[in-house]
Order: sequence, then C-alpha cells, then structure tokens
Amino acid sequence: MGDRILHVEDINVYYGAIHAIKDVSFEVSEGEIVALIGANGAGKSTTLKTLSGLLRSATGAIEFMGESIMHAQPDRLVAKGLAHVPEGRRVFQQMTVEENLEMGAYTRPGSEIAPGLERVYAHFPRLKERRRQVSGTLSGGEQQMLAMGRALMSSPKLLMLDEPSMGLAPILIEQIFDIVRELHEAGTTILLVEQNAQMALSIATRGYVMETGRVTLSGTGRELLENDDVRKAYLGG
Ligand SMILES: Nc1ncnc2c1ncn2[C@@H]1O[C@H](COP(=O)(O)OP(=O)(O)O)[C@@H](O)[C@H]1O
Ligand SMILES: [Mg+2]
Repeated sequence: MGDRILHVEDINVYYGAIHAIKDVSFEVSEGEIVALIGANGAGKSTTLKTLSGLLRSATGAIEFMGESIMHAQPDRLVAKGLAHVPEGRRVFQQMTVEENLEMGAYTRPGSEIAPGLERVYAHFPRLKERRRQVSGTLSGGEQQMLAMGRALMSSPKLLMLDEPSMGLAPILIEQIFDIVRELHEAGTTILLVEQNAQMALSIATRGYVMETGRVTLSGTGRELLENDDVRKAYLGG
C-alpha cells in the first residue's frame, strides 16, 4: 500500500444531545478500498459528513494528505481532493447529465473539463449515451452513476461513497460494485460506506465495523467476511 492519506483519531460528533460518533479512529492509505459497514443508525453517514466538513468533531484529529482538516470548509476539501457522494445521490434534477458532470469540476481549471468528461464516460458509457438527458428522468442506478461521475470530475485523491447500492435492484448493485472495482483498479482510493456488507467486504482491502457510533472491529475484507460475529450480525449467519 501507498502512503496514508486519511488519518482519523478519536473523533466525537454530536447532534445536540445525541452522541452519534464515539471515539472513532481509522485510516485510509493510497490505493486502498476501505469499507465502513454497520447497521442503519451506526454512524456511517455522520462519519463521512464530518470528514467532508459538513459536521464538526468536538475532539481528536482528522488529517488528509498530511494536513489537519478539522476546521476546513467543504469546498476547500473538494479542491484538496476529497470527494463525497452522499447518501441518496443528490444530482441537480433540472440539469442535463453533462451539465451535472461539469458542475463536479467547479474546483478545477476549465482546461480539465473535457478530459474529465472523457474519463468519466469511459467508466460510465451509459452516461455518455444520455449526456443531453435531463437528470431527473434518469433511473435510480443511472443517477447513482451520475453522482459518482460528478465526484470523479474533481479528480479526487479520496472518493467517499455513501451507500451507493441503496435502493437499487440486484443487477444494478452488481454493476455499481463492478464500477467501484474498476475505479479502484484505475488508481482511485475509495472509502466505501455500505449496509450491504457482503458486497462491500468482498471488494475491500480493509474494513471497519461500526456499531452505535463506535468502531467495534477492523481487519482485511477477507478477515471480516470470515469473522463469526460479522457473519451473524451482517451476513445472515
Ligand atoms: N440530523 C440529525 N439529527 C439528529 N440525529 C441524527 C441526525 N442524523 C443522524 N442522526 C442520528 O445519528 C446516529 C447516526 O446516524 P447516521 O450517521 O445517519 O447512521 P448510518 O449512516 O450508519 O445509518 C443515528 O442515531 C441517527 O438517528
Ligand atoms: Mg447512512
């Protein structure tokens, strides 16, 4: 593995009186796919929102590319190479596919838009076919592809995906995971949040299990897939 690009140490995040993230620590190195798995409400999305500057930790440290990002603004973080595809794939519904993708490059010089589009269309030929289509009329799977493509337009050093498989039919879930694997093979480092533990751990280099705001287990993807507690709780025995 390459250098450590994300280091999270002892973060605690609150929503008013609700203590959502409790002493969470983990790291991501260049070239990895790191999976963060756990049941609904475990704190996965809150963790990603904290990394991308939408929420703040009351304690600890978050370092990205060797610098503290505890107090950085979200747009600065995108410019620094941290891209977040949120849960529920929010794309601009009234814009076309290509306009959405162009928006994703807002932190980059204009000269990067055309090569960026080419790169995204190579991974998502479906988006190329539909590039003049208004995004609100895309299927759920296509909107997920668009949200991922838009994030890739910022040329991220770390791509954070929040439940890309949520609400999709099994065949589309397979397609989305194939694309995640392809992006990884093409050199993208990925932090993958999923409730679909089987799929996530089967492509992950390493993983962390979250339960009620804490990291309770970690290991390689394979170790976690074979772990009895993980099997019982997340893999149906
Ligand atoms: N905006 C919010 N206000 C209050 N509590 C929240 C909010 N968002 C999430 N929570 C709570 O924080 C905890 C973690 O939620 P979340 O990070 O969304 O979990 P996950 O993504 O793992 O399903 C849950 O108990 C959830 O109810
Ligand atoms: Mg979530």
